[in-house]
Amino acid sequence: MPNDPAPYISKRSIALRESSKEAGARGRLQDLPEITLESVRADAHASHLATEVQSIISAGKEATVFLAFWRDFPLALKVYRYYSTPHGKRGKRKKMGGGKVGFSKDIMAYWAAREFWILERAFRAGVNVPTPARHSDNMFTARFLGEDLQPAPLLKDVDIKHPKRIFDKIIEQVFTLYRVFLIHGDLSAFNILMFQDEPWIIDFPQAIDFASRPGRHSVVAEGRPILLRDIKNICRFFSRFGVNADAEVLCNECMSQVGETERLEASSLVR
Ligand SMILES: Nc1ncnc2c1ncn2[C@@H]1O[C@H](COP(=O)(O)OP(=O)(O)O)[C@@H](O)[C@H]1O
Ligand SMILES: [Mg+2]
Repeated sequence: MPNDPAPYISKRSIALRESSKEAGARGRLQDLPEITLESVRADAHASHLATEVQSIISAGKEATVFLAFWRDFPLALKVYRYYSTPHGKRGKRKKMGGGKVGFSKDIMAYWAAREFWILERAFRAGVNVPTPARHSDNMFTARFLGEDLQPAPLLKDVDIKHPKRIFDKIIEQVFTLYRVFLIHGDLSAFNILMFQDEPWIIDFPQAIDFASRPGRHSVVAEGRPILLRDIKNICRFFSRFGVNADAEVLCNECMSQVGETERLEASSLVR
């Protein structure tokens, strides 16, 4: 989705907007069937995303992640849903009959495609993210990170042996993302997996994407508060392991890279 129409708008703000009376009048809220292992299995199979969907890895607020397979090859399958959630208040209120009122499939498909596309960009830039495989409707597949079909642990749950090394790697990836005009937006020890002794960044739906914005070299600076929040989260987490870092300094350093890119681009035009 190169011309992302809503690069700044978070899922939550869309959810709020869509749940307004006005959105209801446009018919965006629909009675949706329950997503079950069986229905996901059938959909994933029909859309050639997976030959098998084995089990649920995680059921979050907006999406469920499954362990799936393409033949013998394990995959993570993320399925977006926009209705009742274990944590949500909205869904509970709207439960109806066999199905639940949620957001139309095109909105779920939009979020799946958007996350997939951002993953692709991050992957191509060299960031440690699960290699995106394929997307269809409200789902996408990516490399399964884990050993023996056990998902890799979250950063928050591991015993970190070399905190400074891991911290530096994460910050390096934040910098790389920024160089391709992406800010994760929800970076924390909950959205970093530790796999093969390396940090892997996941869960990009809150990401801000400035790449297709006109004047991206300057408008990317508008993302500073969110970039700073991401960096602060990481600094705070690692401070308890004795890593001292100044989030403001790192944030400025990160943002100064874009100036360098701009100068390089400008000088290549002159040549
Ligand atoms: N590629 C992957 N490989 C292994 N486990 C994954 C993968 N992607 C996600 N998970 C697991 O699923 C959980 C939820 O995924 P995430 O993308 O963070 O969605 P949510 O929006 O529900 O937080 C993660 O905390 C992780 O345990
Ligand atoms: Mg998450």
